[in-house]
Amino acid sequence: MAAGSLLPTLGWVFGLIFAGLELSRRNILIVSPPASDSSAAEFVLSKNYRTAFHFQPDHNWMNDPNAPMYYEGYYHLFYQYNPDSALWVSNISWGHSVSTDLVHWTGLGIAFSPSKPFDISGCWSGSATFLPGNKPVILYTGLDTEGGGVQNVAYPKNLSDPFLREWIKPDYNPLIKPFEGVNASWFRDPSTAWVGQDGLWRILVGLKLGNDGYAILYKSKDFVTWDRAKDPLHYTNGSGMWECPDFFPLGEEGKYVLKISFFDNFYERYTVGRYDEERDLFVGDDPSSNDYNLWQRVDHGSFYASKTFVDVNKNRRIMWGWSNESDSKPDDVAKGWSGVQTIPRIVSLDASGKQLVQWPIEEIESLRGKHIHLSNVELEPGSLHELEGLTASQADIEVEFELTMSLNRAEPFDQNWLLDPPKLCRERGPSVHGGLGAFGLLVLASDNLEEHTAVYFRVFNTGGNYAVLMCTDQRKSSARNELYKPAFGGFVNVDMKKDGKISLRTLIDHSIVESFGGGGKTVITSRVYPTSLSKSSTHLYAFNNGTESVKISEFNGWNMAKAIIS
Ligand SMILES: *[C@@H]1O[C@H](CO)[C@@H](O)[C@H](O)[C@H]1NC(C)=O
Ligand SMILES: *[C@@H]1O[C@H](CO)[C@@H](O)[C@H](O)[C@H]1NC(C)=O
Ligand SMILES: *[C@@H]1O[C@H](CO)[C@@H](O)[C@H](O)[C@H]1NC(C)=O
Ligand SMILES: *[C@@H]1O[C@H](CO)[C@@H](O)[C@H](O)[C@H]1NC(C)=O
Ligand SMILES: *[C@@H]1O[C@H](CO)[C@@H](O)[C@H](O)[C@H]1NC(C)=O
Ligand SMILES: *[C@@H]1O[C@H](CO)[C@@H](O)[C@H](O)[C@H]1NC(C)=O
Repeated sequence: MAAGSLLPTLGWVFGLIFAGLELSRRNILIVSPPASDSSAAEFVLSKNYRTAFHFQPDHNWMNDPNAPMYYEGYYHLFYQYNPDSALWVSNISWGHSVSTDLVHWTGLGIAFSPSKPFDISGCWSGSATFLPGNKPVILYTGLDTEGGGVQNVAYPKNLSDPFLREWIKPDYNPLIKPFEGVNASWFRDPSTAWVGQDGLWRILVGLKLGNDGYAILYKSKDFVTWDRAKDPLHYTNGSGMWECPDFFPLGEEGKYVLKISFFDNFYERYTVGRYDEERDLFVGDDPSSNDYNLWQRVDHGSFYASKTFVDVNKNRRIMWGWSNESDSKPDDVAKGWSGVQTIPRIVSLDASGKQLVQWPIEEIESLRGKHIHLSNVELEPGSLHELEGLTASQADIEVEFELTMSLNRAEPFDQNWLLDPPKLCRERGPSVHGGLGAFGLLVLASDNLEEHTAVYFRVFNTGGNYAVLMCTDQRKSSARNELYKPAFGGFVNVDMKKDGKISLRTLIDHSIVESFGGGGKTVITSRVYPTSLSKSSTHLYAFNNGTESVKISEFNGWNMAKAIIS
């Protein structure tokens, strides 16, 4: 039986018990007749929206991942946390959890919170660096007595404690104040530091000047005194505030990725290039690195403020990113929590050296349980094929669609579509019949299919090759109209002519659907709240609304166990 079908009953029973004890306002809501009080139903639902294998604190608000690191046998994740509420509001502190496998987590409470003049209005995002002798140190943005951003340092109190529970904020903070002409409201998010050819430490800080976004470079000999470099590492005109700059070597010798969180539209984008160490500049491989609109999206969905770290334990670079809620503030208050971290992703560059590839850490596979395998399932035009046997609200799905026989039926491509893939997804939703597509998965589908989230592809003929569009359409994800239910989309940089197939991995975890197209070249994270999660069991389907057949050459689906996250 799917978990979803048991939960409403349990929720109702718990509700009656709690209400009987008159424990809290929230529980009393449940005894009201469901027909006349929708908030009762919402509370039952909220239990089902909580994720089972994604990181989230026990309760309250979480946003950016901070200072991820591996130290003395433990992975550390810090995060932006409001200890007092499921909303952002104020008193933003650093929550802290540790893990030995990046899957199961032990909460250690709060690492530090606003307490000094240099951070009394908030301890905002930052990053970890290892000083010689394997000594971790954190740089973070503090909001001072006036609410302006300054950059601070914090050191572990006891390096013999592998949990790094206590942190000291020296009184010589702040290390870096906004320079002349800078509005302190737009100056934040120090990066991990690296050492340049001259032996000096370097960091980036995000900044807005006018409406231009900057990654400002600072240098230091001793991690205390920091001087601004003559030039920013990089900037773009008209892009608005640059948050959470991340700059790291990846792939072949000399390649660097510059990742920025663009505050104006909450898009995460990256560009690939080289690091000119003489001049301390990022030099993009393409002229497009000067036009932020042409940078690639890291994730086309609900994903922001990402940060990478080097996992020295397994010699890989891992990216964390925050996925915010798409429900309402009252929902968040009722749920008692807001925000999850996406599954940590290994990042690499593909053979072209231009394309970021993201893939969930293999450790997450330790949660895989019951396995369903299918091969050579023909999806005729107009077909809907239920993929049965899984707990479809908590699953890991890998599927490969083969199109070799029908590629000549792809519709012609219009280059203008490259500018706005989400618009194309909206205009050509899953019910629009094309030559090749829409085909894909319907996840978190209700019994009657009225609620479903479509994760699908369309293939177009570009004259000589093919363009592959990937969409996650949330518009029918929930019967509740007031929710944020966009259609997300991006193109997948695969060679259809050569491969003839396209792969999709989707991690479904109650209110989050994380999808990796083309082996992780295009990623879309969605937050969805089907009312059916508590009312009925949840279903998974494959569908094809193209006019040509598509074959599922391979399907592997697993139930996922619940991770222990305290
Ligand atoms: C902020 O949060 C910390 C940690 O929970 C708490 O000790 C402190 O009292 C809070 N400050 C305010 C002003 O609420
Ligand atoms: C530092 O941490 C270690 C390991 O937890 C502990 O044994 C030691 O007592 C701590 N030292 C201090 C001064 O707290
Ligand atoms: C600085 O930015 C804040 C937030 O956008 C704005 O309210 C304020 O007016 C700006 N200050 C100046 C001096 O421009
Ligand atoms: C930004 O605009 C200025 C002034 O128009 C121009 O000099 C500069 O080259 C532009 N920079 C970039 C990176 O496009
Ligand atoms: C969070 O969710 C809302 C939908 O309520 C969305 O519009 C917003 O841009 C999201 N992202 C961030 C980073 O807040
Ligand atoms: C596929 O097309 C049919 C007929 O137009 C439509 O009823 C159905 O809802 C479509 N499937 C999806 C997933 O939109």
